[in-house]
Amino acid sequence: MAPKDEQSDRPGLSGVSRRDFLKSAGVTGIAAGVVSSAAANAQTGAAPRIVGPGEVPIQLTVNGRRIDLQVEPRVTLLDAIRSRVDITGNKRGCNRGACGACTMIVDGRAVYSCSTLAIESQGKQIRTVDGLASANGALHPVQQAFCDQDALMCGFCTPGFVMATVALLEKNRNPTEAQIRKGLDG
Ligand code: FES
Repeated sequence: MAPKDEQSDRPGLSGVSRRDFLKSAGVTGIAAGVVSSAAANAQTGAAPRIVGPGEVPIQLTVNGRRIDLQVEPRVTLLDAIRSRVDITGNKRGCNRGACGACTMIVDGRAVYSCSTLAIESQGKQIRTVDGLASANGALHPVQQAFCDQDALMCGFCTPGFVMATVALLEKNRNPTEAQIRKGLDG
């Protein structure tokens, strides 16, 4: 049996590998946040603000709800939401930006929440799989489609894949296979 990393590179029946799909869905991680923050400071000429290493107050908006927390600056978005807020729909798989189980949508972009700092996510709209169903319990169409098509293996990573799929379809309702492979921003 091939190692996990090789399996994730192998195309499935659709001809699109899991890695291709996540790349095209615009899944990003910690590097983007840190770089954009540094770039913003460079543009404004402002000295970087140093916080921590102890806990600092942060405010997150998760599934439309404002949440005040005290976290160390090193705490990831996944840990903040799962451990401190008890919103546990998105899972921790690899915890290193490889499997996609933790994928959330932040300001319309799919991100690996295990590789995104909570403190960098302030002021952004954070969506987890827990917020997809409507108030009356009706599943989001993507959740329903996953159920209808039995689109699971063990199901542990399914919340992340649902979120990546939602992010993809919110950018382009009818992506072609070529667009999925190339990436919708390309
Ligand atoms: Fe695997 Fe985040 S990408 S847990």
